[in-house]
Amino acid sequence: MRAESVADLDGKIVLVTGAAGAIGAAIAAAIRAAKGTVIATDLKAGSGIDHALDVTSESDWQRVAAAVESRHGRLDGLVNAAGIATVGNIEKTDFATFKRVVAVNLDGTFLGCKYAFPLLRQKGGSIVNMSSVLGLVGGPNLTAYNASKGGVSLLSKSVALYGARYKPPVRCNALCPAFIAGPMVDEIAGGTKNPDAVKQKLALDIPLGRLGEPEEVASAAVYLLSDAASFITGADVPVDGGLTAR
Ligand SMILES: NC(=O)c1ccc[n+]([C@@H]2O[C@H](COP(=O)([O-])OP(=O)(O)OC[C@H]3O[C@@H](n4cnc5c(N)ncnc54)[C@H](O)[C@@H]3O)[C@@H](O)[C@H]2O)c1
Repeated sequence: MRAESVADLDGKIVLVTGAAGAIGAAIAAAIRAAKGTVIATDLKAGSGIDHALDVTSESDWQRVAAAVESRHGRLDGLVNAAGIATVGNIEKTDFATFKRVVAVNLDGTFLGCKYAFPLLRQKGGSIVNMSSVLGLVGGPNLTAYNASKGGVSLLSKSVALYGARYKPPVRCNALCPAFIAGPMVDEIAGGTKNPDAVKQKLALDIPLGRLGEPEEVASAAVYLLSDAASFITGADVPVDGGLTAR
């Protein structure tokens, strides 16, 4: 069997959603550094974003999938990195907010897997869905986010089992980061009375004693996209400084 390099995406074409965000941009940069071709998407096109793609819009997915098909004929990878977070317990979360978080995080990931799948099964491929440690464990103030990310983790297992039927297979895994420095953590902390204290507490909760960096999520994504991860599918992969080890 050939030894595959972990950071080798030479010749692979990978679509990334949420590519203007902290983690999505780091993943796009890491794919390019590994010699892969990135199709970058986010809500607005321009400045490094190839296609405007609202992940909640079925017609946007159909349009972008058709454009990828006519230009490349296939995909080798998909990273569903678009996402939003809100803070709120079961009593305080209004239904509209719940539905919006689930629409972006879970419906968006479903639509991405669904419309990219026919392109991925051409030659086999790898899907990386951005779940979270909060897709594995709950928090009292994270009702909508927990529900959406728990859905992403189990959706990924279903897609993985279906994709395993193809030869070569379409693999699908969920990345489960803990708190990563960037706008999302700033927003969660900003919604509290003492943002700095909250950020400090989040870091102290992590056994490695700090928040993660987007590049640390990106290197795990590149690994899962690469042929070095050829026997890994249907997994929740924590990138969490040990948070879920206890
Ligand atoms: N930052 C963290 O601590 C953390 C931890 C675990 C998981 N995650 C997950 O990682 C992913 C990326 O998070 P991030 O920290 O880069 O957040 P971010 O806020 O920096 O970026 C999110 C990106 O998603 C885009 N987006 C939002 N709604 C969209 C929609 N409807 N259609 C298309 N794009 C949309 C935004 O424009 C933005 O560019 C998210 O799914 C998030 O839930 C983040």
